Amino acid sequence: MDAQSPPAATGIAPVAFAIGIAVTLVGLIIDPLVLAPVGGAVAISAAFMWVRRGGRPAAPKAVPPAVAEAGERYSRSRALERATLALGGLVGLGIALPAAGFSVLPSFLAPRHRPVDLGPISAFPEGKFVVATFLADPQAGEVSRRAAYVRNNGLVGNVPSFTIMSSRCTHVGCPTQPNGPVFAQQRQAERTSGGDVGLVPTQPAGFGCPCHGSQFDNEGNRVAGPAPRALDRYEFSIRDGRLSLGRLYSVSRVDSTGAQARIHSFRLTGDGEPVTGPESWLYPLAPPS
Ligand code: FES
Repeated sequence: MDAQSPPAATGIAPVAFAIGIAVTLVGLIIDPLVLAPVGGAVAISAAFMWVRRGGRPAAPKAVPPAVAEAGERYSRSRALERATLALGGLVGLGIALPAAGFSVLPSFLAPRHRPVDLGPISAFPEGKFVVATFLADPQAGEVSRRAAYVRNNGLVGNVPSFTIMSSRCTHVGCPTQPNGPVFAQQRQAERTSGGDVGLVPTQPAGFGCPCHGSQFDNEGNRVAGPAPRALDRYEFSIRDGRLSLGRLYSVSRVDSTGAQARIHSFRLTGDGEPVTGPESWLYPLAPPS
């Protein structure tokens, strides 16, 4: 190689740096846990290589030492190269840091989850649906009131089985309604440590959303409309004969019914987001739950 030509690594490094930045940005969108760090590592390594190779003095061939030293240290092209690199790094940081902060911080800021006591399991007749309304956050008060469709599926062995679905439509979050009679006059109120719980029997033939017409069957499967998945469900537990709601999770579909249901479950996903298929790759981040 000619002493005046740049080393091969100097030519590769800017390209690798650009690829690393691009992979980092794409990774922040589709895979912040693996792809983004890999892209970051590539970008940092390439930048390091670029600076190191760019700063290495060329062989002093046929040039007087004093001129070579001055030329290498203060050449305009090298100064421009470093300024470009520094500027590119600053721009990259300016883009990547806020994006990384917005994507990662919510996971750490998720509110602590507390179970919601819905009352004694005897308040839920076997095989019937009840619309339960409760305070998701008692300190926030009525603004946190939510509704869930609860059906006691009876015992599986000695273990009680419940179907508990959120009433929130998975399209853009409107409250769905039971398609069928709602027996408001039979409403029961349960006083719990987390506030008043309302229990209203209903006899639905599925659930419908008044906003854009999505329809769900009695297992929460989407049967019509723009909703991208089934109704979200609640984990539940039973302590001292009382039913408690746990965390919400998302569901692509449910096979079979009641206690025999096979639930295809996923971590909680935001409104309008599918949980299966290529479109789900566009939504890699889960909302706090
Ligand atoms: S919010 Fe339910 S269909 Fe749009």
